[in-house]
Amino acid sequence: MTDKFVAAIDQGTTSSRCIVFNQDGAIVAVDQREHRQIFPKPGWVEHDATEIWSKVQAVVAGAIAKAGLRADQLSALGITNQRETTVLWDRATGKPVHNAIVWQDMRTAALCEQLGGTDGQDRFREQTGLPLATYFAGPKAAWLLDNVPGLRARAENGEIAFGTIDSWLIWNLTGGTDGGKHVTDVTNAGRTMLMNLETLQWDQSILSAMNIPEAVLPEIRSSAETYGTAVGQLAGVPVASALGDQQAAIFGQACYDVGTAKNTYGTGSFLLLNTGNRPVPSKNGLLTTMGYKIGSEAPVYCLEGSIAITGALVQWFRDQLGIIRAADDIEPLAASVDDNGGAYIVPAFSGLFAPYWRSDARGVITGLTRYVTKAHLARAVLEATSWQTREVVDAMYQDSGVQITTLKVDGGMTKNNLLMQHQADVLDVPVVRPKVSETTCLGAAYAAGLATGVWNDLDELKAHWQKDVEWTPSMEASVRDREYHNWRKAVEKSFAWEE
Ligand code: G3P
Repeated sequence: MTDKFVAAIDQGTTSSRCIVFNQDGAIVAVDQREHRQIFPKPGWVEHDATEIWSKVQAVVAGAIAKAGLRADQLSALGITNQRETTVLWDRATGKPVHNAIVWQDMRTAALCEQLGGTDGQDRFREQTGLPLATYFAGPKAAWLLDNVPGLRARAENGEIAFGTIDSWLIWNLTGGTDGGKHVTDVTNAGRTMLMNLETLQWDQSILSAMNIPEAVLPEIRSSAETYGTAVGQLAGVPVASALGDQQAAIFGQACYDVGTAKNTYGTGSFLLLNTGNRPVPSKNGLLTTMGYKIGSEAPVYCLEGSIAITGALVQWFRDQLGIIRAADDIEPLAASVDDNGGAYIVPAFSGLFAPYWRSDARGVITGLTRYVTKAHLARAVLEATSWQTREVVDAMYQDSGVQITTLKVDGGMTKNNLLMQHQADVLDVPVVRPKVSETTCLGAAYAAGLATGVWNDLDELKAHWQKDVEWTPSMEASVRDREYHNWRKAVEKSFAWEE
């Protein structure tokens, strides 16, 4: 084993983890803890940012202990995080002023509608690459400023800080009320809908349209540079990267060449295609978004297909319906039948994201007959993930002309062979998982290691990537076409439930 180590924190939607990597990019130790999901009303989702910070501290301690290392043996710390989730906190006390509003939360639907005015969803698309949708952080911050009594005046007075989870963690890690750095990186800032994709700075016209005081905003930095030095248990360790989790995953998957893509299967699924140093506008329901920016190098942009609910549908099947006891039980149950028995589940729990962007959509199950069993439904749950991915891949082709010839995959659901085989079948391309499938943490570690001289360049990182498993398509074209047609009929039935 080589003697340089980099730790990465991945603060995700359902859990936080810390992984220590060695210089070969191999995992030395992992620790992970879940946090509470708070659902105050239908369509609302919150997290307690204070709980998140204490879980993060616990997993850092856990991972370092399991690695048998002291903090001073870490060359750098990288941060990656669930994106868009919005925290406002008091700069003097370090306390959040409200629960964090999670990316899946839909309370800003009316506000987004109103902001769109006569231009509709595309009002800020040219500057930000994003449609006006409940997903993004800026309108969530505006909602808090309008709804927490007295908050707007305090914000205008400079007493309040806004951040996505990366900012919240970096501020706390680097000292909090005692000199914590209030920064974010371009990949996270890009998901607020407040950053201009060309200048990589806050866009004054959007700030004024959303009525967001500039005094609350963090400084926008690159994804790989030393933002500050950690205090507390990591005292002295440079905090040297921040990337939204999906951007960290594309970086960890070594998708550094134009036209390379990955899909990460977590709570939702997010397919990103590297489009190089220029943003490519989407006409087919994708996002134009940052990929990464390494120090002073030119930024890399991506097209992204964001799917809100994939792994979360398995959790719903387990927790809300109680049909399985553990998430892993879904594969044997689904494998006990040959097909979905005619059933399709469209999990529009947060409306539908790419390529539709319909906040009026709600989940539906179609094709039910008395023939359908829980095993058929288990198949329909898994197939919902691969069909949603197929729709995004089709949109990617229409927007970029790039035909994905192999799909690199990662994330928890890639353990599910039945799903991955179905994914290869419905895309009709091979699906490949790397040996280190913790690509999100790996990407954050890579960026932090590049910023601190642990690794020299992208070629060195690329050489670490090794194939673990490949799933080869084997479905007949006529079956694929018929099933896709059925899926799309089911999607249409999910529209216009909530006006
Ligand atoms: O945009 C939301 C995304 O960053 C959440 O990812 O893996 O925490 O579900 P995950």
